[in-house]
Amino acid sequence: MIGDKNMINWSSDFATGVNIIDEQHKELFRIGNELSLMVVKTRNQDSSEQIKEKITELMAYTRYHFSTEEKLFIIYNYKFSEEHKLQHQDFIEYMNSFEFSNNVNEQLLNIKRLVNYIAKWIFTHIHDSDMKFVTTLSDKNIKELSN
Ligand SMILES: [Fe+2]
Ligand SMILES: [Fe+2]
Repeated sequence: MIGDKNMINWSSDFATGVNIIDEQHKELFRIGNELSLMVVKTRNQDSSEQIKEKITELMAYTRYHFSTEEKLFIIYNYKFSEEHKLQHQDFIEYMNSFEFSNNVNEQLLNIKRLVNYIAKWIFTHIHDSDMKFVTTLSDKNIKELSN
């Protein structure tokens, strides 16, 4: 379950060295962390509308971030773009399939599960797949993208 250690906090472990990607990841972590804090604090249905809005915000920003990365795959002719894009798609589908329940307790449990899934997915995806992409860029490309 969500405890302090599982908060969605950005740290330099997640730095890819490519400015545009790192800035967007920080924003994703910021929204994810807000959501995670809301879920920890919530006790009742009062905050469920706010939580819904935060999930919608997170989804919108996630889509925007994925499209940025996917544009870079095309520009830099990334060899493993298809498998990376599939991971993005799976995540979007998982998020889209999330349903809000009318039962308060059930809903809170579902949202906790969702936030745990998001946290794990973001950590693993950045460490494995985003890093893999960045390592295929030459120093010249990275400088270009970091200006
Ligand atoms: Fe990615
Ligand atoms: Fe990413």
